[in-house]
Formats: sequence, structure tokens, C-alpha cells
Amino acid sequence: MARLINDYAAQEIMLPRNEMELAESIRDFTVAELKTPGGKQLVGCVALHFYTTIAGEVRSLAVDPAHARHGIGRKLVESLEVEARACDLATLFAFTYVPDFFSKLGYERVDRNVLPLKAWKDCLRCPKFQNCDEIAVLKRLKEIELRPFPSAGDSTRELVQLPTQSGKLA
Ligand SMILES: CC(C)(COP(=O)(O)OP(=O)(O)OC[C@H]1O[C@@H](n2cnc3c(N)ncnc32)[C@H](O)[C@@H]1OP(=O)(O)O)[C@@H](O)C(=O)NCCC(=O)NCCS
Repeated sequence: MARLINDYAAQEIMLPRNEMELAESIRDFTVAELKTPGGKQLVGCVALHFYTTIAGEVRSLAVDPAHARHGIGRKLVESLEVEARACDLATLFAFTYVPDFFSKLGYERVDRNVLPLKAWKDCLRCPKFQNCDEIAVLKRLKEIELRPFPSAGDSTRELVQLPTQSGKLA
């Protein structure tokens, strides 16, 4: 996984992950493997990272370029969605350079202000921090209303309004 992710990171397409970080979050990952005559080969990975009690991020999504466009990326993200729904998340989001891939999977482009302040965690060590050109995409897994964060420093707010027991917005 480290090699797959960091090959893309070297092209500034993804954030790098060292082995210690991967080990810490290893249970977040789903991987795609191909059977080979000698055993199996890892050809893709993705992680579900929880940001709030209702919002998760599609993180570290990577498919081996030799196996791209064979539906592996779709399968990985779809399996993440099954996991997110099982965890009762209301929404999944991603920061990406491939918004068209995500739009095929039902994600909409959104203003990054409606997303949690990722900057406090990952972005600070990103080489593009001052000049970020990633596109924010989001999929609603439940009926939710998006509302922007009120201030740049407030990381305690929820991403969206929580639905009430009756299903109506609070
Ligand atoms: C983006 C990525 C995960 C796609 O994986 P993949 O296995 O090639 O994607 P799939 O074959 O499952 O494609 C699913 C659909 O998206 C489309 N698609 C795939 N990559 C696309 C792209 N870069 N731009 C537009 N559409 C794309 C496919 O044509 C397919 O459409 P279809 O269902 O109409 O046939 C892979 O190219 C990758 O690892 N990219 C580099 C890392 C990266 O950008 N990760 C995302 C971080 S948020």
C-alpha cells in the first residue's frame, strides 16, 4: 500500500503516507487483490476515515495504474459506502483531482467550506497548502442539509445538520 500511495504522492496526486501512519490506520483500509499464479497481488486500496460522528472521508484511494479502468476504484469506493452506512454515517466526502470519477459514483461537487477543517490535520504538511487546487466532493448517504462552517477556527461543529428521530431536520 505504501508503494502504491507514495508513487502517486511523488506525482503530487495524493498525500504521502509512511509505514507508521499506515500501520496506525490499517484497520481503516479495504484493499483489492488479484489472484496470481504465485498467490495474490495488491492492486488497490482505500481508507474510511471518520471526521465527525456523521461524516467520513474517502482517503488514500489508489489503484495500480497497470490495472486502472477495470472497475477496481468503483468497487473500492462502493465497499467503503457499505461500511459507512453500516456505521450510520450521513455523508462521505473526498478532496480530489478526479472529480469526474467521483461524479460517476454519485458524488456532487461542494464548496470546501461545508467540509470539516481538514487543514488542521493533513493539509498543514501538504506542499500545496497555500495553493490548494483539490476539488471537494460529497455523497449524501441520508437526507441531510449542508451548512457552511461559521468560522475557520471552529473544528467542533458538525458538518451537517443531524436528522432527528422522525427523519426531519433538527
Ligand atoms: C482515480 C482512480 C482511483 C480510479 O480507479 P479505476 O479503478 O481506474 O476506476 P474505475 O475503473 O473503477 O472507474 C469507474 C468509473 O470512473 C471512470 N473514471 C476512472 N478514472 C477516471 C478519471 N481519472 N477521470 C474521469 N473518469 C474516470 C471510469 O471510466 C468508470 O466509468 P464508467 O463506470 O462509466 O465505465 C485511479 O485512477 C487512481 O488511483 N488514481 C490516482 C490516485 C487518485 O487520484 N486517487 C483519488 C484520491 S481522492
